[in-house]
Amino acid sequence: MEQELHRLKQEAEEALRQVGDAAQLEAFRVKYLGRKGGLLSGLMRQLGTVAPQDRPRLGQLANDAKQAVEDLFEEKKMLLTASIVGSATGAIDYSLPGRYLPYGKLHPVTQVMEEICSIFEGLGFAVAEGPDVETDYYNFEALNIPKHHPARDMHDTFYVTESILLRTHTSPMQARIMEKQEPPLRYIAPGKVYRCDSDITHTPMFHQVEGFLVDKEVSFADLKGVLTSFTHKMFERELALRFRPSFFPFTEPSAEVDIACVICGGKGCRVCKRTGWLEILGSGLIDPEVLKMVGYNPDIYSGFAFGLGVERIAMLKYGIDDIRLYYENDLRFLSQF
Ligand code: DAH
Repeated sequence: MEQELHRLKQEAEEALRQVGDAAQLEAFRVKYLGRKGGLLSGLMRQLGTVAPQDRPRLGQLANDAKQAVEDLFEEKKMLLTASIVGSATGAIDYSLPGRYLPYGKLHPVTQVMEEICSIFEGLGFAVAEGPDVETDYYNFEALNIPKHHPARDMHDTFYVTESILLRTHTSPMQARIMEKQEPPLRYIAPGKVYRCDSDITHTPMFHQVEGFLVDKEVSFADLKGVLTSFTHKMFERELALRFRPSFFPFTEPSAEVDIACVICGGKGCRVCKRTGWLEILGSGLIDPEVLKMVGYNPDIYSGFAFGLGVERIAMLKYGIDDIRLYYENDLRFLSQF
């Protein structure tokens, strides 16, 4: 009987493997597990004929065999139902991991630009955007850079026509906003700018944020206060600032602002060329000539302005050493931010 049990179990297992649809499965159930004529049930019934001392052991074996076949039967039933549902909906195996959809992120330059804007918004500045294709008047003349002024050479301008160009900085927004509104004004103007220049620190298109404030009795101390708050927030630590005398036609006095090197903290390293300082922006008090051109009285109003390069700030913040990486669209680079 023991041998017969073993053989029947193997036969049932093999038969179950061959089952391919619901009808075959039902036939299998009747043949092996059916209450009346089922082969396994029949064998259980024969237990009555074996010697009483063998009965408990053989009974246990028969139960185990029947249970094993019933378990396999249930498993097969589940598989068949799943594949019926699956073929109807087009999906096949619910236990497979889902399809991975890579999600997008903002470009690091956009992220840093948004961060710069939100810091200045926190300081009470409003955001304004202007055109990339600009007139010679707003890009230069209104900023006290007349035709043939040597300062034009610094800009490597892309001209569209003689009087229309791609803006070389976001400073034209000073004139555009001032000529439409009366002080007090506090604005920042983020956007793309263009210069015919390309190497490891220059790309023909890059981003700037211009900022300015006009009111009565605005002084250099106000400029210093605003820029100090900004840098401390942007670089998340109280880095020292240095105002270095400079020249811009639209500011007087003018200063370039350096921060203590973010890499060495001011001791001197390769990044800061051993000076301990890194230049981050240009700034100054708005030149009275610029105020006059928009119709403001420079005896009543004064203001400060600054312009910063977004790529440069992002490079310093994240330790990126080649500006071109931003625009090669290599996902291995971009996905780090
Ligand atoms: N527009 C200047 C540039 O692109 C940057 C700049 C310098 C802007 C000084 C300012 C400023 O507002 O005051 O090189």
